[in-house]
Amino acid sequence: MDAISVIRTKRDRGELSDAQIDWVIDAYTRGVVADEQMSSLAMAILLNGMNRREISRWTAAMIASGERMDFSAASGLTRPTADKHSTGGVGDKITLPLAPLVAACGAAVPQLSGRGLGHTGGTLDKLESIPGWRALLSNEEMHAVLGDAGAVICAAGDGLAPADKKLYALRDVTGTVESIPLIASSIMSKKIAEGTGALVLDVKVGSGAFMKTLDDARELAATMVGLGTDHGVRTVALLTDMSTPLGLTAGNALEVRESVEVLAGGGPADVVELTLALAREMLDAAGLKDADPERALADGSAMDVWRRMIGAQGGDPGAPLPVAREQHVVTAPATGVLTRLDAYGVGVAAWRLGAGRARKEDPVQAGAGIELHAKPGAPVTAGQPLLTLHTDTPERFDYALQALADAYEITDGPSDAPAHGIVLERVA
Ligand code: URA
Repeated sequence: MDAISVIRTKRDRGELSDAQIDWVIDAYTRGVVADEQMSSLAMAILLNGMNRREISRWTAAMIASGERMDFSAASGLTRPTADKHSTGGVGDKITLPLAPLVAACGAAVPQLSGRGLGHTGGTLDKLESIPGWRALLSNEEMHAVLGDAGAVICAAGDGLAPADKKLYALRDVTGTVESIPLIASSIMSKKIAEGTGALVLDVKVGSGAFMKTLDDARELAATMVGLGTDHGVRTVALLTDMSTPLGLTAGNALEVRESVEVLAGGGPADVVELTLALAREMLDAAGLKDADPERALADGSAMDVWRRMIGAQGGDPGAPLPVAREQHVVTAPATGVLTRLDAYGVGVAAWRLGAGRARKEDPVQAGAGIELHAKPGAPVTAGQPLLTLHTDTPERFDYALQALADAYEITDGPSDAPAHGIVLERVA
């Protein structure tokens, strides 16, 4: 077997054999296949696609490149496990209220999460704004927090699907991220290696998401649900709207504050709606069909799990959250209806304010980000606050404001804000 023949097969629109896939993933992980050869193959896959067998085998080979975690009854865990993965969006803080909520309803939620890169935020960056909270846990600590609180949110260790870690970094710099077979196998290899019994995928659609159209999102969702099913994980996907930011905040500490509001029984309607929709799917997939997540939010039991979970990872759930040193308010330039508030523009602005990073090693500002004072469909009056920008470094305001220049629209006609709810479709 050699890299050039594998590349030529896909370049010439052929099907990769199981043996070719197993060899190339293993050889790349070991450094036998060079980065330039893998990037050529990734581009051939991006251009010519892979069929279901090839995607399934590619995923299996990436799982086999590392360790698999065990949260089955054999590991001592008595509850069924359920996990959620979002393809990423602006203001997407749902994991924060969702994990403790689903745990409060009887499931165990091992949530291995990542950091933000580019305009979408990362769950670990958000939680690290809580004083004392630790993202890095050993496998033993992870099991202990899960056993005690019912939910754990922490960083995925280096041992999980190392082939994907290497390949994703390569795709990031070679223009080969936007391939449905590569995205689906990348996400699912990590989720399957993580060892959950049930998985709910939140596939975002719209300007702030990877998938800009419903058709692409549908194809990605169906591919991932197929992969989960092939590997024995009960998998369901919801396609959800990411044309405008989720909730009223984008930025690390700002999003933690909003998540705690949801756990306290309040919070923005779209965040509550999506949290409950995903919770119902997770509980259903975990076999807990009689659970009542609405009650667990209302009676404080989800908040109790949150406090235990944060405390078990060194965080102080009662400590004040960091606040950025400087604020800048954007006011409505006219009276009318806010007909558009673009997720991508808000995400880029929050990132430029310091909420996100351009390179993996960059630090993030805990307090930076954007607060929304109106959502699409709301009437606004000239001069009223529309957005508040937060940063520790005010020289960033101008650059952030440039990203917002075309991000909103106020018209005097009727609203053309979406009539649909946040969940657009379900794929099972
Ligand atoms: N997230 C992943 O983990 N992998 C991708 O390819 C895209 C998003």
